[in-house]
Amino acid sequence: MVSTPLMAVNLGGIHMQNPVNTASGTYGFGREFESFYDVARLGAITCKGCAVEPWDGNPAPRMCEVSSGIMNTVGLQNVGIRAMVESEGEYLQGLTQRGCAVILQVAGHSIDEYIAAVELYEELAPWASGLELNISCPNIAAGGAAMGATPETAAKLMQAVRPRTKQPLIVKMAPSRVSEIARALEASGADALSLINTIPAMSIDTRTRRSRLSRPTAGLSGPAIHAIAVRMVWEAHQASNLPLCGIGGITNGADAAEFILAGATAISVGTANLTDPMTAVRVVDELYDWAKNQGASDINELIGAFEC
Ligand SMILES: Cc1cc2nc3c(=O)[nH]c(=O)nc-3n(C[C@H](O)[C@H](O)[C@H](O)COP(=O)(O)O)c2cc1C
Repeated sequence: MVSTPLMAVNLGGIHMQNPVNTASGTYGFGREFESFYDVARLGAITCKGCAVEPWDGNPAPRMCEVSSGIMNTVGLQNVGIRAMVESEGEYLQGLTQRGCAVILQVAGHSIDEYIAAVELYEELAPWASGLELNISCPNIAAGGAAMGATPETAAKLMQAVRPRTKQPLIVKMAPSRVSEIARALEASGADALSLINTIPAMSIDTRTRRSRLSRPTAGLSGPAIHAIAVRMVWEAHQASNLPLCGIGGITNGADAAEFILAGATAISVGTANLTDPMTAVRVVDELYDWAKNQGASDINELIGAFEC
């Protein structure tokens, strides 16, 4: 007998056995978490952003703790797609066979670099469940965030990349101009949106008068941004019909449920993976209990069910 509520969702063509995903850059490539729990219990994992060539990222210090969150300026350090697939591909493909979707994240400095990265993923990782275009990293000097900053630049990138792959394409959005950019991405062929990336922030060491990190500003994440992210998911849901993945400060099932009520089809656990590695799998169970207590026979009934 099938137990209800049914928990499977479809994120723009990516089948997920439940709505719980992990946020890029906070979960590595999943393997490290196998020593804590069976990663295949999650709906999906989203891997660290990778580009065609390796990137060094920003100098240390790159992370610090602030009230109710952390700040990071990792700057998309990565080994490059080829080396990543060589070392992680077998494990990740196995994870898809165990029932957990694997979303590979694409980083780039220019439209040409995004296209080259998507084509390389197509060639080396055809088993991927979908690709996520990161157009919102606040910690790199060129490309990335600039690409996602306006509806025009976001649409231009999407139009260039869309014909190059048959994979479902999710776009990771910055925490600004959400409604306009969601509409532009829908019109230019995105299959789903994920939001939000970190919020640009500052933390100053008052003794030295310097930034606590290697750059003046860095991305804020964790519980401090949760309520802002819920509001932005709600705005994106009102502006477009695309399925959404809600991200920002999730530490438990209730946080995840808020995103679903605001209109998210799926959710990602981010910073909480760093403080309690059991968070994502606990959210799977807590979300199920919540949907059951709501009397739903299918979690899909609760997507966007927020009442004002
Ligand atoms: C250390 C660290 C590294 C991150 N790296 C990436 C990345 O490579 N690509 C990306 O799109 N987001 C990256 N993010 C942002 C997260 O995926 C997520 O959008 C953000 O942290 C908000 O969710 P949270 O509050 O649950 O952490 C990173 C966040 C942190 C804390």
